[in-house]
Amino acid sequence: MREAITPERQIAAGHVPAAEARAFIIRHTTVAAPPACPEISLRLAPDLIALWEAMETTFGGVRPTPFWAHAWVGGQALARYLLDTPAVVAGRRILDFGAGGGVVAIAAGKAGAATVTACDIDPMARAAVPLNAELNRVPVEVVADELLGRELESDLVVLAGDVWYERHLAERATLWLRRLAAGGHTVLVGDKRRAFFPKSGLEPLAMFELATSTDVEPDTSSPAGVWRVQP
Ligand SMILES: C[S@@+](CC[C@H](N)C(=O)[O-])C[C@H]1O[C@@H](n2cnc3c(N)ncnc32)[C@H](O)[C@@H]1O
Repeated sequence: MREAITPERQIAAGHVPAAEARAFIIRHTTVAAPPACPEISLRLAPDLIALWEAMETTFGGVRPTPFWAHAWVGGQALARYLLDTPAVVAGRRILDFGAGGGVVAIAAGKAGAATVTACDIDPMARAAVPLNAELNRVPVEVVADELLGRELESDLVVLAGDVWYERHLAERATLWLRRLAAGGHTVLVGDKRRAFFPKSGLEPLAMFELATSTDVEPDTSSPAGVWRVQP
């Protein structure tokens, strides 16, 4: 795997109009189910590096890591938990932070959430989520605003799958998610305990052993869990 490109580099990458992003995603992905969530269909890249190179050929410049073209193991764990435990989100208003291709947002919608909003700093992810939501026939609103660090309207269920892969993002996300939990939001996270995942202040909810691909992870399976963030 090439070195992941940080959110700052993502912002610096040249703009891709939404219609072009959508056409690119349809052309360069195949519809498949993530191993832990066979009930969800997503537009995924069988070869993430080949897709990344195609992005750079098509749009020019150094393009952000196409996180949106893979269902990451932490997101799959959180999605699986929501599908198995729908009462956690049924009738609630959901924010999926760092949505990528939207596996968590779509699981929340399928589990009966009242509304689902997905946010991601990457415009390609914001083009992929509506395509994936359409595939699964669940309504998901996408917001372009940078929400990390912001106060949010009250009583949300805030979900974050696999956003602890990079130190700067991980530190900011951890502080912010704790503050949201202290403010009364329900905050649930999924991760394989990557290096920057918090070591305390979390209530364990579920643990899974999930199939992974050696294209993007070191092994063919990985433990991944779901936790509630404590204030
Ligand atoms: C490893 S992916 C996980 C995607 C998805 N949750 C999953 O589990 O498949 C992390 C995502 O976080 C997004 N991200 C990084 N920094 C962000 C920020 N400041 N605000 C919103 N999204 C961000 C990235 O663009 C990327 O799509």
